[in-house]
Amino acid sequence: MDFEQNDTETTAPCVSGQVSNRDDGRNDKTYALAVVPYDEDKLSPFHLAERKFRFAGRELVIRQSWRELGVAAVVWDAAVVLGEYLETEVTLTDQTVVELGAGTGLTGMVAALQGAKVTITEREMALASLRRNIKSNIPPGTTPHPVLIQELTWGQNLHHYPSSYQYVIGSDIIYIKETFQDLLKTLVHLSNCETVVLLGCKIRYERDTDFLKMLEGKFEVKEVRYDQRRDIRVYKARLRSCTSL
Ligand SMILES: C[S@@+](CC[C@H](N)C(=O)[O-])C[C@H]1O[C@@H](n2cnc3c(N)ncnc32)[C@H](O)[C@@H]1O
Repeated sequence: MDFEQNDTETTAPCVSGQVSNRDDGRNDKTYALAVVPYDEDKLSPFHLAERKFRFAGRELVIRQSWRELGVAAVVWDAAVVLGEYLETEVTLTDQTVVELGAGTGLTGMVAALQGAKVTITEREMALASLRRNIKSNIPPGTTPHPVLIQELTWGQNLHHYPSSYQYVIGSDIIYIKETFQDLLKTLVHLSNCETVVLLGCKIRYERDTDFLKMLEGKFEVKEVRYDQRRDIRVYKARLRSCTSL
């Protein structure tokens, strides 16, 4: 994968008006931000209207709208790193894949370009923006299998989804403590003994590691990639109840 606009993210999905003290990447302290005029476009790639990426020989042009939808409508570094991992380390031809908290859908698109049968999911409020990005980048007939886009709010209506996926993927979805139980419940619901869960993660706060501990209660978890420049880790997990069989 080549980056055409490869600035890495400069902010974290944290409470507006606060910034994390992240010398060691795991510090929970927050400080008030000074209010200073700045040129947003130079400050962060999040404020760009579109960003271009190249995966599987195809250019993907992702439209972003931070002001409209915030975290769900920009590309996070974890999506790029997980996309690179999928492209280089995983054979996805004809595999069933579900993506959680897809945002702009970049990682799910990479899976689709690799020939997977992908269901890309998001909260209702972010689905229209997700659909626009998928439609403009993956028009019908341009991947071996059509891409499905569906609403999935973690922990809700899980009976609409099978437990037969071969891969469950998600990038930068570990960031709201209040969602941790529901996210874990969703991962467990979607998994069977054969399922591989792949999570691209930026560990920003102590609480993020709490989720990893919760995950380890149910899944055998292994770090399979660390991208030092972007400080992103990819974790691979399989249901623990199956690994001892
Ligand atoms: C930091 S963004 C990451 C977006 C995208 N995966 C990426 O890496 O570019 C977190 C995403 O999780 C989604 N999300 C947050 N809470 C959720 C929930 N309870 N159910 C489903 N999705 C949720 C948000 O809508 C958002 O798109």
